[in-house]
Amino acid sequence: MSNNRLIIFDTTMRDGEQSPGASMTKDQKLRIARALERMRVDVIEAGFPAASNGDFEAVRAIAGVIKDSTVCGLCRANDRDVQRGIDALHGAKAWRVHTFIATSPIHMEKKLRMTPQQVLEQAKLAVRYARNACPDVEFSPEDGSRSEPDFLCRVLESVIKEGATTINIPDTVGYAVPQQFGEFIRHLREKIPNSDKAVWSVHCHNDLGMAVANSLAAVMIGGARQIECTINGLGERAGNTSLEEVVMAVKTRSDFFGLDSGIDTTHIVPTSRLVSQITGFVVQPNKAVVGANAFAHASGIHQDGVLKSRQTYEIMRAEDVGWSTNKIVLGKLSGRNAFRQRLKELGVELEGEDAYNKAFQRFKDLADKKADIFDEDLLALVAQEAGRSSDEHWKLVTMNQASGMGERPHARVVLLQADAEVAAEAQGDGPVDATFKAIESIARSGADLLLYSVNAVTTGTESQGEVTVRLAKGGRIVNGVGADTDIVVASAKAYISALNKLESKIERLNPQHQL
Ligand code: KIV
Ligand code: ZN
Repeated sequence: MSNNRLIIFDTTMRDGEQSPGASMTKDQKLRIARALERMRVDVIEAGFPAASNGDFEAVRAIAGVIKDSTVCGLCRANDRDVQRGIDALHGAKAWRVHTFIATSPIHMEKKLRMTPQQVLEQAKLAVRYARNACPDVEFSPEDGSRSEPDFLCRVLESVIKEGATTINIPDTVGYAVPQQFGEFIRHLREKIPNSDKAVWSVHCHNDLGMAVANSLAAVMIGGARQIECTINGLGERAGNTSLEEVVMAVKTRSDFFGLDSGIDTTHIVPTSRLVSQITGFVVQPNKAVVGANAFAHASGIHQDGVLKSRQTYEIMRAEDVGWSTNKIVLGKLSGRNAFRQRLKELGVELEGEDAYNKAFQRFKDLADKKADIFDEDLLALVAQEAGRSSDEHWKLVTMNQASGMGERPHARVVLLQADAEVAAEAQGDGPVDATFKAIESIARSGADLLLYSVNAVTTGTESQGEVTVRLAKGGRIVNGVGADTDIVVASAKAYISALNKLESKIERLNPQHQL
């Protein structure tokens, strides 16, 4: 691989999945894996095979279908974990075992309760074990950025001798600062005699909002050539390095970086929406590249400039990242073929005729309520389906509510459970509150509502509202998403989707939380 090639390693389905409520089913992981492959991500970290049978099966299924990306699994540095990784991955066309152990004084002493010498031996054993089965082995010294440099050099030199082909330095707690982190990587590469035998990678968390900057500094100052990142920057706590930001920084400022990521950037927005819908993590409107406002010019001066010449205020073209400039794309009279063709142009592939038929029916229902259908509506429509479980316990049959100034809002909902309709009414502080109370009086979940958020899918008051509801019960956290032109209906859909996730027998994977 040439020295100006930047390897993109996506860990949305492993580190990203560690966000509260972001756990995914095997089918959902498969959909995301296919989207990442279409985007031409180099390495897809599909999960943590030793964490649970469910995650093992998901990694194995992804290894079985993905052909154009390397499929990777994370394993702690011990024989059992690494063997589980090998068993899950070995069917893939290209696969990588990623093993890690903490090397910072605080992690070794307080978490692992191991001496540095024990950690060193464990790291060597794990890499040797993995290399016996797999030619592509990545090693990460967890909390690398807070590790003592001389000890880190000893560990890394040893694991490269054992055959590690990628060395990944995590900034596990998001403590690093760009200049210093870049110099740290350069120091390691200069000091370790066999450093040229491995590709250098970084994995940054965003606790101080510097994950992307730290990753790019590691590339430019330190000579790293792999960045670990996630779609929408999803991940533990404040998240990880955002894939779309890194990729577009390198592409837009190729004059400065002189690097090529190989990513098909036109798939960025559809993939962002898919991940957001599946995980229930809404993308903030002002998020770079994929936020709803990222290409919207609100002020008169900007609009005037853009109309005269786009380059006055636009450094990237919206269509290059998969946005479609709010064009009216379809309407009530659009047929099945036009619908299918537009999904294809948006990079959306549904599985089987049945899925297309169902999606088309939902499109027709939406077109009855909304005259102009934009690409964003289509993406919300198909992605909403992606967030749905196949074993739905509750279904919304009908609902209505009444509210007015000075009146206490009142809602009535009818749900279907096991082929029987159940109705309930409730009052609340607002129409959404009354609706949730009515649903809850039927479902009696007792779950705590952790988050309620509403987002407009497109501009204008006729836009669909997209609602996220996060519920917690018995230590489990789930996110439900719903979209509709009526935001109270969208809210009810989101609440019911979250309840169905709590009820679901389909295993939701959340690897490291179970270790
Ligand atoms: O943040 C971290 O240290 C990690 C490693 C396991 C790579 O996720
Ligand atoms: Zn991490």
